[in-house]
Amino acid sequence: MKALILSGGKGTRLRPITHTSAKQLVPIANKPILFYALEAMAAAKIREVGIVVGDTKREIQGAVGDGAQWGIEVSYIEQEAPLGLAHAVKIAEPFLGNHPFVMYLGDNLIKDGICSLVEEFERSGANSQILLARVRDPQRFGVAELRDGQVISLEEKPAHPKSDLALVGVYMFDQTIFEAVHAIQPSARGELEITDAIQYLIDKGYQVHPHIISRWWKDTGKLEDMLEANRIMLEAITPRVEGEVDEASHLIGKVIVEQGASVTASTIRGPAIIGRRCRIINSYIGPFTSIYHDTLVQNSEIEHSIILDQCRITDIGGRLEDSLIGKNVEVFRSDGKPKAYRLMLGDSSQVGLV
Ligand code: TTP
Repeated sequence: MKALILSGGKGTRLRPITHTSAKQLVPIANKPILFYALEAMAAAKIREVGIVVGDTKREIQGAVGDGAQWGIEVSYIEQEAPLGLAHAVKIAEPFLGNHPFVMYLGDNLIKDGICSLVEEFERSGANSQILLARVRDPQRFGVAELRDGQVISLEEKPAHPKSDLALVGVYMFDQTIFEAVHAIQPSARGELEITDAIQYLIDKGYQVHPHIISRWWKDTGKLEDMLEANRIMLEAITPRVEGEVDEASHLIGKVIVEQGASVTASTIRGPAIIGRRCRIINSYIGPFTSIYHDTLVQNSEIEHSIILDQCRITDIGGRLEDSLIGKNVEVFRSDGKPKAYRLMLGDSSQVGLV
């Protein structure tokens, strides 16, 4: 068994973060999303992993390297443009050969890994296994229609979904999928759709085995989903303090303070995680907040947010909430006159003023 992790894409729903960075490397509970996928592969004893990369190739390669830290061998497969999930499979054919494989969307998180799912696929002898989950908003997903436990149709983001069963971003295939990705044509949005490729398998009489999951999973393609994923992962942390917390500070509930971090005259109410070498001074960090490495928070309050590395959040006066702040961002109180908001924001930024 090999694995194919898709980490290219446009990432339009997460701009401006994705103008400069890979969304698959946004840390959830201070661990890049993509690392959860790599851990899942290693746990399922999959050794050869291909990562499909686009514009953010260098950043992804810099973070993952050769995979040795997970005991896997990583190959990088360059996609010239985000031409669709089935296009990614097509260009990965030389890497995958005739091995069965797991295809995993690099911005998806699935709790409890994929070991049992891989075993089930191997036992089933099917040509493909798809994972389905019941959702409230199927219009946003690939949607499957089942009859007598068999998949009869698949549709990508249908305006009128035939069921509430959404495709989860983890698929299993054997080499028949290559016949499918060569046969299909781009959709109206110009992409080679994996739903069309799987529909091809069904129409040709190949066996597509559906597995309805009840465990938690998330497509983290947009802000609210990132925050929810962060919430779920933080709930599972084991508290530890490797940095310094002074006597005037209070850690309440499950809190991690990573190495080299310092907490001074502050209250941190967990679940929350403070990254390496961060400095939290005279501040309040509320539940469901992850602060990545080397960030300073001073005289400020933050709750239910993800803050990336090397930020400076100082003297803000109000409280930051429900926010995703990219790398190296400064948020501070501007006390010059005239009293005004002074902003320097990248394209597609969003600011909520009170
Ligand atoms: P999506 O989230 O469906 O697409 P996207 O990343 O372009 O984002 P948006 O819809 O906000 O514009 O992609 C799912 C995963 O697959 C994600 O990790 C990116 C990856 N991907 C590729 O590697 N190649 C592709 O051609 C596409 C479409 C996605």
